[in-house]
Amino acid sequence: MLNVTNGKVSVSDLVAYCMRAMLKAGMREEDAQTTADVLVTSDTWGVYTHGTKQLRPLLIHMRDGGLDPLANPQIISEGSSWAHVDGHYAMPPVSAVMAMRTAINKAHQSGIGFSGVYHSSHFGAAGYYAMLAAQSDMIGLAMTNVDPFMTVPGAKGRVLGTNPITYAIPTGKARPVFLDMATSTVAASKVFAAETLGKPIPETWIVDRDGKPSTDPSELLKGGAMQPMAGYKGYGIALLIEILAGVLTGAAFTTDVKTWIIDTDARINQGHAFIVLDPQIMMPIDDFKARMDELVRRIHETPTAPGAQRIYMPGEMEWERRDDALKTGIPLPEDVLLYLRDMGDDWDL
Ligand SMILES: NC(=O)c1ccc[n+]([C@@H]2O[C@H](COP(=O)([O-])OP(=O)(O)OC[C@H]3O[C@@H](n4cnc5c(N)ncnc54)[C@H](O)[C@@H]3O)[C@@H](O)[C@H]2O)c1
Repeated sequence: MLNVTNGKVSVSDLVAYCMRAMLKAGMREEDAQTTADVLVTSDTWGVYTHGTKQLRPLLIHMRDGGLDPLANPQIISEGSSWAHVDGHYAMPPVSAVMAMRTAINKAHQSGIGFSGVYHSSHFGAAGYYAMLAAQSDMIGLAMTNVDPFMTVPGAKGRVLGTNPITYAIPTGKARPVFLDMATSTVAASKVFAAETLGKPIPETWIVDRDGKPSTDPSELLKGGAMQPMAGYKGYGIALLIEILAGVLTGAAFTTDVKTWIIDTDARINQGHAFIVLDPQIMMPIDDFKARMDELVRRIHETPTAPGAQRIYMPGEMEWERRDDALKTGIPLPEDVLLYLRDMGDDWDL
């Protein structure tokens, strides 16, 4: 049973609950710990769509053969500043953490590190992985390709995934600057939420099966597609992610990437890419952090527009939510609690 008090779940209870499910599914304790940390940390940031809500479908994917509970991701080839990692269909956060640590080690030696993973699947929110680099005083980028669910300008139908990208950059006095986003206008979950509420959506969110912008959220699952953020610019960024995480790593790309949540028994060969830069190759780390602090100060001190209370740095909302979550528990939304309870039924928790 998951202990929910006043609508909140403590971080330690949530980690323990998730670990119990993963151990019952046959994972090693160390891998279950890593995965729980990735998913629960995303929940503390308020990224509920891609936190522990993802664990039940990931364990179904594992039970059905799409993932291997005991696989070890492995470096297959490497140079002084890069590595290719075969995920061997381990639990994806395990492969992603291993690969990001590899990129960080490479950056320690060479100033820059790239690590690409193939034979993987859904790794959840991208943010955690980039944050590992920032915690080591480095600049981190993390990204993954995803099964096609997004159109591109001029196309009818789905072409690319909603490929997410994250960066995390250390500062001196503030918390890391930290952007974590999909490359579609909004996450698909927002379209489904509007459909449930019977509400129309803005014209820039989806296209229907004929490739025309639609305000009817139900068109998405009738052959429609998400729209890229900022039109051709979002398309261009999603394409870069497809190239770095899919083409360059040896993973599947575009229509070869299956839908992990539907093709649960399939080895879907999604790819991830991690890039790390050590600022110390160019200047002393304290100078870099002082310059970052100055940048944050200038942005924060910009006069606000009428009606605006403050200017946020990317990641600032997430840090504030995390502070609250660590103090008083995580206010998991009802849909996440439902998924967690169903997972409890699956694994007799
Ligand atoms: N693995 C996958 O298949 C997959 C696919 C798509 C998305 N995702 C994940 O979904 C999550 C949500 O993505 P999203 O695109 O819906 O995120 P979003 O649109 O909510 O954007 C979140 C980002 O924008 C920043 N932000 C928001 N308001 C801001 C403001 N006023 N000023 C400055 N910064 C601001 C936040 O700090 C955060 O970094 C991400 O964690 C992403 O990695 C995963």
